[in-house]
Amino acid sequence: MNSSRGFVDSIVRYPVKGLAGVPTLDPVRLEPGRGLRGDRAFAIARRDSTPSATGWLPREHFFHLARHEHLARISLGLVEEGSESSTLVVETSEGMARGERRSSPSGEVGAFDSTAIDDLLRRTLGADHGEARLVEAASEGLWDWEHAHVSIINLATLEELAREAGMPVDRRRFRANLYLTGLAPFEEFELVGRRIRVGDAELEIFQPTDRCRATTIRPVDGVSDLNVPSLLAARYGYAYCGVYARVVGGGSVRPGDAVREETGAVASLEGKPGWPRAARVLAKEDESDDVVSLWLTDPLDLLPNALPGTHVRVHLPDAPTPNWRSYTISGTAPGRFRISVKRDGRVSTMLHDAHAVGDTILVSGPHGVGGDDASRDLLLVSGGIGITPSMALLRSRVAQRATGRVRVVHSARSSTSLPLWEEACRAVAELPDATARLHVTDTPPPERCDGFTAVGGLIDADALASIVAELDLDRADASVCGPPTFAAHMRALLERSGFAPDRIHVDLFSSPASSEWGPPRAPRADLPLRIESAAGSFVWEPAAGSLLNAAERAGLDWPSECRVGVCGTCVRTVTHGEFEYLNEPLCEPGPGRVAVCSAAPLTPLRLDGAPAGS
Ligand code: FES
Repeated sequence: MNSSRGFVDSIVRYPVKGLAGVPTLDPVRLEPGRGLRGDRAFAIARRDSTPSATGWLPREHFFHLARHEHLARISLGLVEEGSESSTLVVETSEGMARGERRSSPSGEVGAFDSTAIDDLLRRTLGADHGEARLVEAASEGLWDWEHAHVSIINLATLEELAREAGMPVDRRRFRANLYLTGLAPFEEFELVGRRIRVGDAELEIFQPTDRCRATTIRPVDGVSDLNVPSLLAARYGYAYCGVYARVVGGGSVRPGDAVREETGAVASLEGKPGWPRAARVLAKEDESDDVVSLWLTDPLDLLPNALPGTHVRVHLPDAPTPNWRSYTISGTAPGRFRISVKRDGRVSTMLHDAHAVGDTILVSGPHGVGGDDASRDLLLVSGGIGITPSMALLRSRVAQRATGRVRVVHSARSSTSLPLWEEACRAVAELPDATARLHVTDTPPPERCDGFTAVGGLIDADALASIVAELDLDRADASVCGPPTFAAHMRALLERSGFAPDRIHVDLFSSPASSEWGPPRAPRADLPLRIESAAGSFVWEPAAGSLLNAAERAGLDWPSECRVGVCGTCVRTVTHGEFEYLNEPLCEPGPGRVAVCSAAPLTPLRLDGAPAGS
């Protein structure tokens, strides 16, 4: 059995990486292990970069749109005159040039002569990045990702983005080879890890496409006018749009061809936690009148192996935006993971009402920093549905046959609505030195307490101090989760009881606080500041905006992808100094770390353990 996944609307080839595409109405052949003939066959190299024998180098070796938006103002024509002869015509503000490959009368294929194009590129692009020149791929195309063959965009997703942006979104921003129609918005992510047949060709969808600054650039004039990654992150909780495919079965494809999903999954799929992918609902269990648990699969099998304390983002394309929300993983088991959802807000309500066993749901994660040293003492303090991280930690302690002492303190409004409490008490009973204490605020405490202590009223300072006194504070951690005021109050009480502040973890979610998105704020610092890093030092100027921009202006090649705080590629450690975020990063860099694409310094900084005064 196979199922319909829309139709091919149009086909585009990009002879030179970073330059304009050349659409075709004719059938094209997709080659196994390669893709469209002549696609990304050339790139404009910076410095001395030459594609390796495998035909691939990271994009930092080439001019690319995310960093060189003026590429959008270079036009390109492709003339093909037979299977091995081709002519490229490049036009810039400095003039026009042709390059060509000819075959000898005996059929021998000659080298591509790019002398005139190289000369034009040097005059157009300047000498800032060394001698620009056209280089040719040895085998596979010069993609941003190794082993990518075909880029696919779902046009319904772009229509959805245009609605959210309040302006047209030109499909050329996304530089796809195949534009598909007839799908629902973001349906392409359901294909990650699946095989599809397009025309006569067979493809494996092996990853979603993360979007970088290149998509912010208006194709007609190279002006950065729409922050697509930021829009995606704010409204949908990720910066992905479209998917990459590998060609596993060659064949001919033309506009209008049907796309069908084949049976069977991609054999080995190694993914990143941030990828949106389709999880299947295996079971739904009522925990109380307003909390339901969902057990789900993960095609990447990352979430069933998540560390306790991490969370998953649920993305519901059918819900009004922002249509994503974070949930702590409340339990894991081989091949499955669990979230426990309180009926509260539109995403949670849809999970309660609109998703049944067997349905698929888009998820990403695990996100956040988790983990637990099971030999240390552990105090778990929770309020309401904040019991979910406590539950994950308790399950982990039981699974590890932990030796550290465990104390559970939970606050609930009603003794008749206690989601996950019985399960927590069962886990406590299995641990060697553990107790559980329940505080009930709005009703009398339960009359029967199996394995726990119950009292009426709020958790107060004395109650908490007496529990803390049972722990070895030199070897103890605390985890706090609940409504923000509850969590802040509990943290203050714990610190007063002698808990070291850096051993208290307060669970924070990065669910969308608002649907706002837009350009980064202006930096507050108005003077140049010195930045020292292990790779080199430079002076940040306010006009540069982000630390990443300033580093690049200074000639440093710091890795980056999305440039809007989503992917985490640019995160570096901060060993000295203070900084601010110009846009809040979604990638959760963690303490002592900074996403340099989204941050500006407030004081001189030392990064990556750079020695002082280097
Ligand atoms: S480049 Fe993606 S978070 Fe900075």
